Amino acid sequence: MKILVATEKPFAPVAIEQMKEVTDKAGATLELLEKYTTRHALLKAVADADALIIRSDKVDAEVLDAAKNLKIVVRAGAGYDNVDLEAATARGVSVQNTPGQNSNAVAELVFGMAVMMARNCYNGTSGSELRGKGLGIHAFGQVGRNVARIARGFEMNTSALDPYCPDDVMLDAGVTPVHTVEDLYKNNRYVSLHIPATAETRGSVGYDLVTLMPKGGVLINTARKEVIDEQGLIKALLERPDLKYAADVAPDHAVEMKELFGDRVFFTPKKMGAQTAEANINAGIAAARQAIEFLRDGNDRFRVNKK
Ligand code: 3PG
Repeated sequence: MKILVATEKPFAPVAIEQMKEVTDKAGATLELLEKYTTRHALLKAVADADALIIRSDKVDAEVLDAAKNLKIVVRAGAGYDNVDLEAATARGVSVQNTPGQNSNAVAELVFGMAVMMARNCYNGTSGSELRGKGLGIHAFGQVGRNVARIARGFEMNTSALDPYCPDDVMLDAGVTPVHTVEDLYKNNRYVSLHIPATAETRGSVGYDLVTLMPKGGVLINTARKEVIDEQGLIKALLERPDLKYAADVAPDHAVEMKELFGDRVFFTPKKMGAQTAEANINAGIAAARQAIEFLRDGNDRFRVNKK
């Protein structure tokens, strides 16, 4: 059994060591393709793999066709918008994710960014505090719930919008349920985005929502750049000099936005939310276990594509 770990953005070495322990124990071979820069390298490495473990690496029909023995792709992480699910289903390949394994890391980064924006990117000027401010969580999944937990320590007033999550779950977490997206943006100084990138959500956060935010509004995006309507956001930031935007992964118009808005915007150079040793270990081990359990017993518990 060959399990290929193909990661343009590698896991921490300590995570790889622990993943290897899992695969060694199961008598499988763990092969690494890290920091690859050409598609050809991926197509070649995947040719004889039974399982493929990835992060945000793109897996489409071409990759699946090159992988003649492939039975499973595990996205070590939450979002699987980088995998062509239909192509995988058509080829009988299971696609799984590892929900929850990296969510604390992403949630901590939300607060790293929130404090940084509140303190004007540490430029020496007088900023503000998070305590007592409204925090709107846009989608209450695993990351959103961790954000709510940490927000309690900051004494923020937290509310959330998620049509797929019952109000009870939010109330139990000390979070006020909100039922319209407009209310979420209108009533919160901070909004943290956690919606997945889907056909429905792409470009869904732009001028109309951002300009609803109260004075000093800060939008934090540790989800996907695709959910933002960048032109709409730029227009909002131009019209409202009080608004700020921080994102984990640069928008397409990053250079232009940095020039226009300076310390009112911040972008990580690479997606860093899940880039911690702990998240790498948790998601990597879960991915290795899921690959083995699927190859050995057909365990499909975390499958995200149709059969
Ligand atoms: C996820 O969807 O799990 C996060 O966005 C992390 O992505 P990464 O593994 O590419 O850092």
